[in-house]
Amino acid sequence: MWTAGLFPTGTGHQDHDVPTAPLLRLHPGPAEPTTVADHYLRVDRPHPTRRPWVGVCMIASIDGATAISGRSGGLGNATDREVLLTMRAAADVVLVGAGTAAGEGYRAPGQLGLRIGVVTNSGRVDTTRDLFTSGAGFLVAPDSAPVPGGVEVLRVGAQRVDLGEALARLDEIVPGAVFVSVEGGPQLNAALLDADLVDEVSVTTSPRLVGGPSGRLATGGTEVDRRFELAHLLLDAEHFVFSRWVRSGAQAR
Ligand SMILES: NC(=O)c1ccc[n+]([C@@H]2O[C@H](COP(=O)([O-])OP(=O)(O)OC[C@H]3O[C@@H](n4cnc5c(N)ncnc54)[C@H](OP(=O)(O)O)[C@@H]3O)[C@@H](O)[C@H]2O)c1
Repeated sequence: MWTAGLFPTGTGHQDHDVPTAPLLRLHPGPAEPTTVADHYLRVDRPHPTRRPWVGVCMIASIDGATAISGRSGGLGNATDREVLLTMRAAADVVLVGAGTAAGEGYRAPGQLGLRIGVVTNSGRVDTTRDLFTSGAGFLVAPDSAPVPGGVEVLRVGAQRVDLGEALARLDEIVPGAVFVSVEGGPQLNAALLDADLVDEVSVTTSPRLVGGPSGRLATGGTEVDRRFELAHLLLDAEHFVFSRWVRSGAQAR
């Protein structure tokens, strides 16, 4: 492979449990060995006025599939897992759609103090899961959604969640929150994109073609044309490509 000589031998760096494949930064050049933390943790994330910085973190196949057999795990590798956990380490809050929380079996996070907000219009969320009984999980729901007692809820919107208001009032749940990592899925991403609430997108491209019915990174909602600039492009020895894109003009928002 053309990059073979550029990779150091042995495993890559790791901040979490699983050894990762050696990782190269291709952009900004020149190409050199790097770490996940250098590009997802120790990066500048400005604080937009009135709401936290919002970063979407997703993996997709070469052809844009976001799941195999209904889950994203089959697309990933240890380095991608490291990216997700590093985004969590950088974040004050994780937001996730109800479909993803259920389908991916979201559980209490290993990271002490991390709060995970599950976004739902219907309120049909299994709050008996340890995500909620641990105290880490909370709901983001409209006034109309019936929600069992004992679960913290951020009420935003009458019949449907108002995501702008949710972000603006997130410090009612997590005081001082300045960075939100959004872990999908495609419907939640589309709604955030629609409302122009996405400041960065971290996309892992998994080296496989999948086809099938899964959503794209953002599926549904209104068609928009939002411009982003490439912050970095990384490649690991398993042919996974890691890119981070920042909304054009985001520094000034
Ligand atoms: N590749 C990846 O990185 C990745 C990441 C995440 C998920 N996925 C995959 O994506 C699939 C799930 O897709 P999905 O589109 O169903 O996921 P989703 O966006 O997580 O879930 C959709 C549900 O979330 C709630 N929701 C989403 N946006 C909302 C909004 N703006 N306001 C209020 N509620 C909102 C609604 O729940 P209610 O019906 O309760 O109102 C909606 O039915 C799974 O196969 C999963 O594996 C892949």
